[in-house]
Amino acid sequence: MASKILATLLALAAVSNAALVRKATCSDGRTTANAACCVLFPILDDIQEVLFDGGECGEEVHESLRLTFHDAIGFSPALTKQGKFGGGGADGSIITFDTIETPFHANGGIDDIVDAQKPFVAKHNISAGDFIQFAGAVGVSNCPGAPRLQFLFGRPAAKQASPDLLIPEPFDTVTKILARFGDAGFSPAEVVALLASHSVAAADHVDATIPGTPFDSTPGIFDSQFFIETQLRGTLFPGTGGNQGEVESPLRGEIRLQSDSDLARDSRTSCEWQSFVNNQSKLQNAFKAAMAKLAVLGQDTSKLVDCSDVIPVPKPLVGTPHLPAGLTHNDIEQACATAAFPTLPTDPGPVTSVPPVPSS
Ligand code: HEM
Ligand SMILES: *[C@@H]1O[C@H](CO)[C@@H](O)[C@H](O)[C@H]1NC(C)=O
Ligand SMILES: *[C@@H]1O[C@H](CO)[C@@H](O)[C@H](O)[C@H]1NC(C)=O
Repeated sequence: MASKILATLLALAAVSNAALVRKATCSDGRTTANAACCVLFPILDDIQEVLFDGGECGEEVHESLRLTFHDAIGFSPALTKQGKFGGGGADGSIITFDTIETPFHANGGIDDIVDAQKPFVAKHNISAGDFIQFAGAVGVSNCPGAPRLQFLFGRPAAKQASPDLLIPEPFDTVTKILARFGDAGFSPAEVVALLASHSVAAADHVDATIPGTPFDSTPGIFDSQFFIETQLRGTLFPGTGGNQGEVESPLRGEIRLQSDSDLARDSRTSCEWQSFVNNQSKLQNAFKAAMAKLAVLGQDTSKLVDCSDVIPVPKPLVGTPHLPAGLTHNDIEQACATAAFPTLPTDPGPVTSVPPVPSS
């Protein structure tokens, strides 16, 4: 008798709990806060299996993350103020109007991922703008140490191509870069946070002789090594010298953008840069917040549905902040004037070279 009452009470508790969170159960049995998000589960499965080769944090994830930026940053209130079209932001125009946008100089190499994503947009009932941001958020979740990014669903089709010259170039000055991001609504601190993306990134085209050359020694992990290694003295070019937008890096097999080097050393951004070196939770929170803004540039968020709970929970961080083998604190070029660079252990073992990100 007592156990029957208890069971009834438990059942009642479960029902009221379910009512409180108002979970929708989709036809495949998975749950989400809003029934409108159910259509995303088959798309999630398809991109994890086919586009991201079974849930990797590899080349296609890196390219998909870059694409979220190159689509969204085509957004300029300053141009609109001059009576011109300032771009639709995160609207998918880079896919819809790819013949216009992919030839922009700053979009070098982006046609690969545009071509890879197009069939998914065609196959599933989803706008290009939604697909780009959804694939980016899903992709980032494959990288250990990453935050779980927000995903809002319901962007309408793009109406017009973005104008050229809105995407920052690696040879732009810090002043120009901060002004461009400022126009789109980002503070210098948010620019630094967004560049955590270069922790899971490589370059194919800055030095075309060494495709897949990463910006840090751990391109498959969303960690702070990018912020550490960009602060090391540059000593070598991993391939050929003299490429536009490239400066010397501290490690064989690693490439450094002039813009990343400058942002790490400029008084407007260097302390924020350094603050990420040994603060993974700050890195995650700041990147998540800045990406949430980026993903809805130009969008009316009151018309979007929050489908963030469809994004997988990322795996925990692997490894701890360290200096690459053979390098010490003496190789750090201190730039922040108000705080010392944190003391970090050096990786044991012989000096190594960073392997390229395999193409798949
Ligand atoms: C100052 C601003 C930025 C500049 C100048 C810049 C420039 C670049 C360049 C030149 C590359 C190499 C492209 C290639 O040769 O293949 C690259 C790669 C990449 N960028 Fe940025 N970027 C900036 C900001 C961002 C932001 C805000 C994001 C995302 C939120 C981002 C995500 C990526 C990713 C993930 C890659 C790697 C792509 C791959 O591995 O295929 N970047 N970036
Ligand atoms: C496609 O999506 C739109 C809005 O997202 C929806 O109104 C429409 O019913 C969907 N069509 C199909 C065939 O599922
Ligand atoms: C990490 O950053 C957060 C947010 O800025 C700050 O409150 C916290 O003190 C930092 N932790 C460390 C260990 O520096």
